[in-house]
Amino acid sequence: MAITRLHDVAALRAWRHTQGQDNRRVALVPTMGNLHRGHLALLDSARAHADVVIASIFVNPLQFGPNEDFDRYPRTLEADVAALEDAGCDAVFAPSERTLYPHGRDIAHIHVPHLGDHLCGADRPGHFDGVTTVVALLFHLVQPDAAVFGRKDYQQLQLIQRMVRDLHFPIRVIGHPIEREADGLALSSRNQYLSAEERVRAPALHATLRMLAEALAAGERDIDAMEARGRALLEQAGLAPSYLRILSPDLQDPEIPGEVVIVAAARLGDTRLIDNLMVHV
Ligand code: PAF
Repeated sequence: MAITRLHDVAALRAWRHTQGQDNRRVALVPTMGNLHRGHLALLDSARAHADVVIASIFVNPLQFGPNEDFDRYPRTLEADVAALEDAGCDAVFAPSERTLYPHGRDIAHIHVPHLGDHLCGADRPGHFDGVTTVVALLFHLVQPDAAVFGRKDYQQLQLIQRMVRDLHFPIRVIGHPIEREADGLALSSRNQYLSAEERVRAPALHATLRMLAEALAAGERDIDAMEARGRALLEQAGLAPSYLRILSPDLQDPEIPGEVVIVAAARLGDTRLIDNLMVHV
């Protein structure tokens, strides 16, 4: 069936009303477009938790810093809508900035305290407020029963779960496993910024996380030394690490034995890459 294209709030609300009248459960997949296999896989999780799936496409200016890639972020709306339709997505909400932020960018925002202060939040001041604000707005407009996010943006997922808990959104937040290239590189729209030479180096990020996971599994417990070794390995591979941490699933100091998450961000030329790996130790 042809995908329903929604560009303004009135049309979205009318569509949502119809789904409710027909007792259909709705799952939302929020995206910034430029869809790849990783985004399309999110639709599978959405479909498993709902009767109808709506994706949103919006390159959200609030979550980009002044020196970040908002202007050059790839915008490929027609190809994205075609890919969503091929993948069986029922509807797409693709608002303009004027539709979503009719009163400009200096608007009420959602701030989740503490959790966003470190890691990507320290590297990108204001980024997570931009994310939680647009996601809250999308939740408010779409009123989904479930929403699916990729686990590559691990800290983002934690923040959204916290926001949903704190603000009593009646929405089930689902984290979808990271989709990877054959050499381990996590799929990301930003991978296309990599030069051919950088693309060869980029899998070092995932390889380093795996090496640390194996060291943990082999019984190594000196977390500080392991983090330092991981950062040194990234540097040797030509990446500039912003952080590499071994943390608990809620991004605090780890408790071992138990579940840990190894999180890292690194720059490769002009491209910022992030990745993470959950390990049970
Ligand atoms: O993960 C993303 O693509 C974005 O941060 C999101 C959740 C769509 C909000 O703009």
